[in-house]
Amino acid sequence: MSTVVLIGAQWGDEGKGKVTDYLAEKAEIVVRYAGGNNAGHTVVVGDQTFQLHLIPSGILYADKPCIVGNGTVIDPEVLLDELEGLKNRGISIKNLRISPKAHVIMPYHRIIDAADEKSKGTKKIGTTGRGIGPAYSDKASRVGIRVTDLIDEENFPLLLKGALEEKNRLLRDYYGIPEMDYNTILKDYQKYAADLKQYVEDISVLVEEAIKEDKNILFEGAQGTLLDLDHGTYPYVTSSHPIAASACLGTGIGPTRINRVAGVAKAYVTRVGSGPFPTELFDNTGDYIRKQGHEYGTTTGRPRRCGWFDAVVARYSARVNGLDYLAVTKLDVLTGLDTIKICTGYKYRGEVISEFPCGRDALKDCEPCYEEFSGWKDDISLVRNYQELPDNAKKYLERVSEVSGVPVGIIGVGPKRDQTIILKEMY
Ligand code: IMP
Repeated sequence: MSTVVLIGAQWGDEGKGKVTDYLAEKAEIVVRYAGGNNAGHTVVVGDQTFQLHLIPSGILYADKPCIVGNGTVIDPEVLLDELEGLKNRGISIKNLRISPKAHVIMPYHRIIDAADEKSKGTKKIGTTGRGIGPAYSDKASRVGIRVTDLIDEENFPLLLKGALEEKNRLLRDYYGIPEMDYNTILKDYQKYAADLKQYVEDISVLVEEAIKEDKNILFEGAQGTLLDLDHGTYPYVTSSHPIAASACLGTGIGPTRINRVAGVAKAYVTRVGSGPFPTELFDNTGDYIRKQGHEYGTTTGRPRRCGWFDAVVARYSARVNGLDYLAVTKLDVLTGLDTIKICTGYKYRGEVISEFPCGRDALKDCEPCYEEFSGWKDDISLVRNYQELPDNAKKYLERVSEVSGVPVGIIGVGPKRDQTIILKEMY
């Protein structure tokens, strides 16, 4: 048996959906441990495309328990919509389990998210507007509403009343926007509670039991390392912990239970929202990558900022996650480029640094130092065996692995399940 944590090694959108889907096939349980419906995982099965925001990709396999951990924040309306969408496409959702300790995104969280971004003006974070930050703020401030509260018929109305009084003061007196109506929210959320109650179970017990039974468990990360609240490019981060350590916290198991950590990195880098991005491309190559890679947000539709592979980021990610393997996705997107670059270090205040800086403004003053590689023209989307890749693609990957300090275990050459080259089995 093995427990594998799969995380995003860049700024999110690394193509984790496809890799988790691949790994989910061999897993017996799939667990999502952090984030909310700010995430968007695209999974292509045959000629069908699924876009999942909160539900683990394992749901596409009928026989696997799929767990939404306590580290997530749940918008019940969105979750129920997602479940309905899956049901309508013939996917069984009976194996879904939701932690009673997960926090609930309330309608005022979404309103506050938007109002807060507006008030920040040019300093806005560029959030997904899903209420993620305000929901996690309430959790940390100990005024949040959890799933266990939502399904508690007696207490929920009282908790909502208390919370809404405070939020309405904030909306009215600080943001100058209309108050929200208690009865409307109560009615909607009582309905959501009734629909979700059947899936709620202490998932820490479930996962620990599965570990004792020697099952393969996949912990599916959302977002990416550089969006981590502690280890990301603060303040341009999300409000949760996408890194591997969070799999324990967001599930309720101990660190000794994790066997392996794999990081997903695109063969280039993208970022959505604001914040520094040293290898960002503002030229035709950036446009080419965006077009070839369909780099538009799954959740918001926003065009993603595109740039060269950044090995400083990859090494950092290897350190803070303890990466055993890299899954390099979307290698096919680079096909057709004459030259491809890898950033191996940053020039900062006249010196070359090789470690990712900590300072709030340091990254925006970092200039990338590049190594250049010749590209390849052959279509690689049908390649399933490493040896059959063009020599230049192999040279590129070998250098990616060398400068990142992590062996490459999986290579993605297209969006479909089988467009994958496996070098190392993860379980
Ligand atoms: P929030 O998570 O909506 O609060 O947004 C905070 C930052 O994280 C913004 O820059 C978002 O664009 C970014 N972000 C959140 N979720 C994702 C994701 O799944 N992929 C990429 N960026 C994300």
